[in-house]
Amino acid sequence: MNNQITLKINQVTKSFTGLDQPVLNNINLTVKAAQKIAITGVSGSGKSTLLHLMAGLEKPDNGQITILNKDLTTMKSNDLCALRNNSLGFIYQFHHLMPDFTALENMMMPLTIRGNLTKKHNTQLSLIVKKLGLEKRINHYPHELSGGERQRISIGRAIITSPDIILADEPTGNLDNKNANKVFDLFLELAEELETSIILVTHDLSLAKKMNKIYNLTQGKITAT
Ligand SMILES: Nc1ncnc2c1ncn2[C@@H]1O[C@H](COP(=O)(O)OP(=O)(O)OP(=O)(O)O)[C@@H](O)[C@H]1O
Ligand SMILES: [Mg+2]
Repeated sequence: MNNQITLKINQVTKSFTGLDQPVLNNINLTVKAAQKIAITGVSGSGKSTLLHLMAGLEKPDNGQITILNKDLTTMKSNDLCALRNNSLGFIYQFHHLMPDFTALENMMMPLTIRGNLTKKHNTQLSLIVKKLGLEKRINHYPHELSGGERQRISIGRAIITSPDIILADEPTGNLDNKNANKVFDLFLELAEELETSIILVTHDLSLAKKMNKIYNLTQGKITAT
């Protein structure tokens, strides 16, 4: 693991109207290249809010969030879109696959958006499809796939661009234990091969323990456990 900093959160605060205290209160966090961290916390503690800020989908009230030394909080929206496409992958609890596109088209979507599909990408795509055990399901539509297959497609979509960092919000939360572990281990293998940093939000301590470090989010503060 090299010591390059992939993501840095500096004194970040975020409040929502209607809540009597900030969801995130002066948070600091540093994630290095290829480092894997888990964030746990009770429902409503602000885990998804934190991931959305890291993805530049929302802005903090105060503080800076940098990915590869670029500050998301001051970036123009075009630059932010490019950074997201080049450096970030996101896996959601309920996959967010596009219903009118096949599994393959969904998986390739970040590359299609980029508009520069190369031979190298095709080779990588075949490897990922094989690794995820999806060869026979790749031309099906999301509604024709099982929950585990959909989740594997959404992992493939997040990893296809070899991002610097993957933000995963309960990526196997809707699967049974056995499948969750299987799918998660495939995800870890791929991320390790590509030296991708992972920020995993999970309620599942057995998955959290597979990370290098576990943090807990409580009452707006984040602490290493
Ligand atoms: N856009 C919003 N407007 C107002 N309040 C919000 C908004 N988004 C989140 N909240 C509130 O902020 C708090 C944190 O929400 P968040 O979704 O980050 O929690 P979480 O830790 O991800 O919970 P869960 O484990 O249930 O997914 C909650 O009280 C939620 O209702
Ligand atoms: Mg959440």
